[in-house]
Amino acid sequence: MKLTIPDNAPFSGTQRMWLKGFLDGIVSTIHQQPAAPEAIAPAAGQSVTIAWGSQTGTCEALAKKAAKTLSSKGHIPMVLNMQDLSTDALASTENLLVITSTYGDGEPPDNAAALHSALHAPDAPSLSSLRFTVLALGDSSYPDFCKCGRDFDQRLAALGASRATPLIECDVDYDEPFAKWIGAVDAALAAA
Ligand SMILES: Cc1cc2nc3c(=O)[nH]c(=O)nc-3n(C[C@H](O)[C@H](O)[C@H](O)COP(=O)(O)O)c2cc1C
Repeated sequence: MKLTIPDNAPFSGTQRMWLKGFLDGIVSTIHQQPAAPEAIAPAAGQSVTIAWGSQTGTCEALAKKAAKTLSSKGHIPMVLNMQDLSTDALASTENLLVITSTYGDGEPPDNAAALHSALHAPDAPSLSSLRFTVLALGDSSYPDFCKCGRDFDQRLAALGASRATPLIECDVDYDEPFAKWIGAVDAALAAA
């Protein structure tokens, strides 16, 4: 932008110089106006590890469903077979969702057995920087209802991790409790 004085304007040379300086000052001030403020950035999505323990596939399917829901809310979920998760990896994980069934007489599904036992070992690491929640699938016709999910919930807390949302147990039907649980997880992540 340039402001000029017409050649035929009735000013003396000195007046012209003064006016030119004045107009240049205005142009320079306009150019220095701060840029329009940036739009407020949306809250950053959180990284969430979703670990599943499953014998016949239900918990794996729910883990994928949870990931889809959290992705749609802007989070960054990673679905993991529990057999690929170590206690050391958990020590540097921020957000953990556990979805597990119970088999045998209150035992973990095969793919959850190693992690279950490593967490219960006396040398299991501190998990004080971990936030977690557990969705436990089971069937109350068995004496040890949802025992594997309860074990994870209690042991993670005993190792110093904090519960993002309370344990939810599913008695055969899991659709409604899952919806309630993932809603609570989403709210907890948004508040964190
Ligand atoms: C042989 C067998 C043993 C089971 N043992 C238990 C048990 O001890 N406690 C429990 O709450 N549920 C038990 N269940 C129920 C399963 O945990 C439940 O069906 C669950 O939804 C299966 O999920 P998954 O397909 O992810 O493994 C058992 C099921 C079977 C077939």
